[in-house]
Amino acid sequence: MSTHRCRHLAGALLLALFPLAAWSGGPVPVPPTVDTSALPSLDGYAGKTNPYRGKAEVVEAGHAIFNQSCAVCHGADAVGNRSPAPDLRRLDGFCRRIEDEALRTHCLADVDQYFAKSVLGGKIVVGTVHMPPWRGVLSSEQLWSIKTFIESQRP
Ligand code: HEC
Repeated sequence: MSTHRCRHLAGALLLALFPLAAWSGGPVPVPPTVDTSALPSLDGYAGKTNPYRGKAEVVEAGHAIFNQSCAVCHGADAVGNRSPAPDLRRLDGFCRRIEDEALRTHCLADVDQYFAKSVLGGKIVVGTVHMPPWRGVLSSEQLWSIKTFIESQRP
């Protein structure tokens, strides 16, 4: 079979499966409508470390995006201790207690990487969608402004 036909078939299969996915009732990502055009441009940044860390000017947008897209599971304003999903303010708690600066920076970079991987890829455990994937839904600006907002909310 030619690769062309193969692609055609794969496309048809995807189209056929799509309604099934919708019927299964799993959570679907809600794209944020917050305008991020005023934020410093990340120009498609695909790195795994928060390029906005410490930038107070992105916190407000991150907060609004969080409340539109994440709060339904992780709690309004990231106050997640009474929510079904993990309290994201605690993600880097371990790192923050490290005194050695180089080690702490390394630890925070690891958490950023885990954050990006979790959010973009979602959390799908033995076929059950605990969190839908956000790849293709959130821009880099949206992803990292959310992270910067969460960092500003440390308990
Ligand atoms: C439909 C509910 C739902 C939505 C919406 C959702 N999440 Fe989640 N998220 C979860 C659940 C449940 C888990 C834990 C899943 C697991 O570990 O299997 C999780 C895990 C995570 C983790 C890993 C946390 C950890 O402690 O390991 C991160 C980071 C995360 N979510 C960020 C986000 C962000 C950012 C958004 C918004 C863009 C978001 N989530 C939207 C339900 C959701």
